[in-house]
Amino acid sequence: MKCTVHASKNFVIGTADKRLFSSFVEQLGRCVYGGLYEKDHPLSDEDGLRSDVIKLVKDLDIPMVRFPGGNYVSNHRWEDSVGPIDERPVRLDLAWKALDPNTFGIKEFIDWCKKVGTEPMMALNLGTRGIDAAKDLVEYCNHPGGTALSDLRKSHGSEAPYNIKMWCLGNEMDGPWQVGHKTADEYGRLAAEVGKAIKLFDPSLELVACGSSNSDMPTFPSWEETVLEHTWEVADYLSLHMYFRNDENDAETFLASSKKMDQFIETVVHVCDYVQAKKRSKKTMYLSFDEWNVWFHSNEQDKTEPKWNVGKHLLEDVYTFEDALVVGCLLNSLLRHCDRVKVACLAQLVNVIAPIMTEEGGPSWAQTIYWPFYYASKYGRGEVLDIRLDVPTYKNHHYGEVPYADAVLVYHAEEQELDLFVVNRSLDETMEISLDAIGFPTQLKLIEHILLHHTDLKASNDRDNPEHIKPVVMDITREPYKAPRQSWNLFRFSIS
Ligand code: AHR
Repeated sequence: MKCTVHASKNFVIGTADKRLFSSFVEQLGRCVYGGLYEKDHPLSDEDGLRSDVIKLVKDLDIPMVRFPGGNYVSNHRWEDSVGPIDERPVRLDLAWKALDPNTFGIKEFIDWCKKVGTEPMMALNLGTRGIDAAKDLVEYCNHPGGTALSDLRKSHGSEAPYNIKMWCLGNEMDGPWQVGHKTADEYGRLAAEVGKAIKLFDPSLELVACGSSNSDMPTFPSWEETVLEHTWEVADYLSLHMYFRNDENDAETFLASSKKMDQFIETVVHVCDYVQAKKRSKKTMYLSFDEWNVWFHSNEQDKTEPKWNVGKHLLEDVYTFEDALVVGCLLNSLLRHCDRVKVACLAQLVNVIAPIMTEEGGPSWAQTIYWPFYYASKYGRGEVLDIRLDVPTYKNHHYGEVPYADAVLVYHAEEQELDLFVVNRSLDETMEISLDAIGFPTQLKLIEHILLHHTDLKASNDRDNPEHIKPVVMDITREPYKAPRQSWNLFRFSIS
């Protein structure tokens, strides 16, 4: 099958914000305890942080990490997670029916961020708490000193403020599962007042209002409209969350998942612009897709986990090669909406629906989905061009008709490079790629072809075979421009 990618140097969607390659650490399962933090692991440093995990995270070059939840945040008291560790209370986390020792709290997270070279994005509890707790946390974290809360932070060992720039006004407040679930009006009013207080403290802080937990929620998209009506003045971003599943074991449909993501983003953009028009506002509302991934493998297993333990084995999806192809398509979707989606967080980072897995006392390794994320983070930060594809399409069970190729083209002016990400969704046919890029030299030089391919869609990596699914650099002198059936590809072209 042939696939021609049509582009023009002048037709640009936007410049991809580096924060599109952010991630998420929730106090859930073994994400923190047994993931980031394992006191007695031979590879842990003096703070109990696993250096092997830090290395894998660093390689992903993640610009920002959302913390501490997720559903967890909606029943958490931030005051429990600061100060001397041995004085912190053990609490019940109702969201995940777990025990929360509060050993790894705010300071520990900020220290980990520094070691990894990433920025924190902090979520506020608007489930069980309100304006006081939120404004106090912001003051504790960001005020330089001379007030009760900023001096408290100093007494806890952090002289300099954390200067956390981005704050989430709650988490999934539309979800009936959320502790402190609210109607759109209840949430919108609260978020507006919390946002007002935070902006009075520092108008340069960036705030994310909660959109829907996914586009199948019965309140979608009127939730977005109502919430924006209330929060328009204080919110800088509206959040989107979406997880993808393959319950029917239907690969062709699953591989078309990015169409659902495209539609979700485009509908939310329309609602934002509708509210903007209603308000006669000049402001553009940007989107923060702050939870996205494949999540379904572990659902049954999770029902058997005993309650009220620390570091439960929850949401430990073992990702297949097929999932990696889907994640590649989802990254393409985020990139082709980079004019409005400025932040996106792969949920989550370690052990919990994560690209990185660890064994307690044992090794860590990269799951299949690590690789498309790694390359998108490395080569996706440029100008995303508005391409058209000339390629056959196919029908699938949920998402209508989709092209066999899911592609994005990213231009790096400084490096004089064009990077083409292509997923070949065909389960049978090789795809021959050609690039017709107006405004660039006709003879673009292919400098690298990186391929992720396996004959078995269900193949995965594990502790004994951690590199079973790993990209390979192709010999471009042999079969250039060919994307094998069921494959993720990065073609890098030099323009000079
Ligand atoms: O990422 C797992 C959970 O998914 C988060 O806690 C919640 O926000 C979402 O429902």
